[in-house]
Amino acid sequence: MIRKALLPTPKKHKREPVARPKRKIIHRFVENKLIGRVSYEQYREKVRDVYGGPQGALLATASLLSLHTPLGDRLFRERKFDLRGVRHILDIGSGAGQLVKPMLKYADPGTSIVCCDLSPKMLRRARTRLKSTVPQHVAADLMNLPFADGSFDCVTCGYVLEHLPEAKLGLREIARVLAPGGRLLLLTTEDSFSGAFTSRLWCCRTYNRRELYRICQDLGLKWCKEIWFSRMHQLFRAGGICVEIEKLAGSGLRS
Ligand SMILES: C[S@@+](CC[C@H](N)C(=O)[O-])C[C@H]1O[C@@H](n2cnc3c(N)ncnc32)[C@H](O)[C@@H]1O
Repeated sequence: MIRKALLPTPKKHKREPVARPKRKIIHRFVENKLIGRVSYEQYREKVRDVYGGPQGALLATASLLSLHTPLGDRLFRERKFDLRGVRHILDIGSGAGQLVKPMLKYADPGTSIVCCDLSPKMLRRARTRLKSTVPQHVAADLMNLPFADGSFDCVTCGYVLEHLPEAKLGLREIARVLAPGGRLLLLTTEDSFSGAFTSRLWCCRTYNRRELYRICQDLGLKWCKEIWFSRMHQLFRAGGICVEIEKLAGSGLRS
């Protein structure tokens, strides 16, 4: 299933001008803009430093305080995203293993789990925190995943896409490694006020829901349902975009 175990050399990413949907001035003002100012290679180094350093060491605690950890557990426990019947899971941007921890509880016994992350330091933290021999840990970039086409029937990608200059570059890779009919749980930072604040904290960008929906459509990725962690999440959009997506069987990658 895994083509290469080591982090692949990054492909040079040529930036194309992207028209972004209009955002409120205050959001534009607060949002971190580094991703648009430097090359992807430079930005990627910055992301590795952020997560590899003291801020990354606090990620698990921050997720607990922001309720991401308990609400993430509930998402799988209450089958808002149903793991029953899934055989091969890839968790992209595993961080401290916030999504993998509940997966180990609620996925069927025997399900294989691969944790991948850009930051080798985060992978080590996840391994220590998870205390399980089930997941494999692979250093990899979402823009260039070292896995064969259609290797997974389930992919989870929590708050990683916002670390790419364009959603399409990551979603295309996810669509490639997903088997037809496979499902994706996608969580990402939204272009709301709380999203702009998050982007400042974690040095990332934000996405517009409709823009993301259209990109998925072009890639043969069907939005099955939008998921809300809680009533507060729905009211204040505090947890960002959380959606279950299916790779349409027989869909070719159109863009
Ligand atoms: C905010 S944490 C998310 C952790 C976890 N998935 C969650 O839902 O809480 C983002 C993680 O994505 C990783 N990451 C950032 N850019 C990445 C990329 N291009 N490819 C793979 N992982 C990346 C970071 O190193 C970090 O561990």
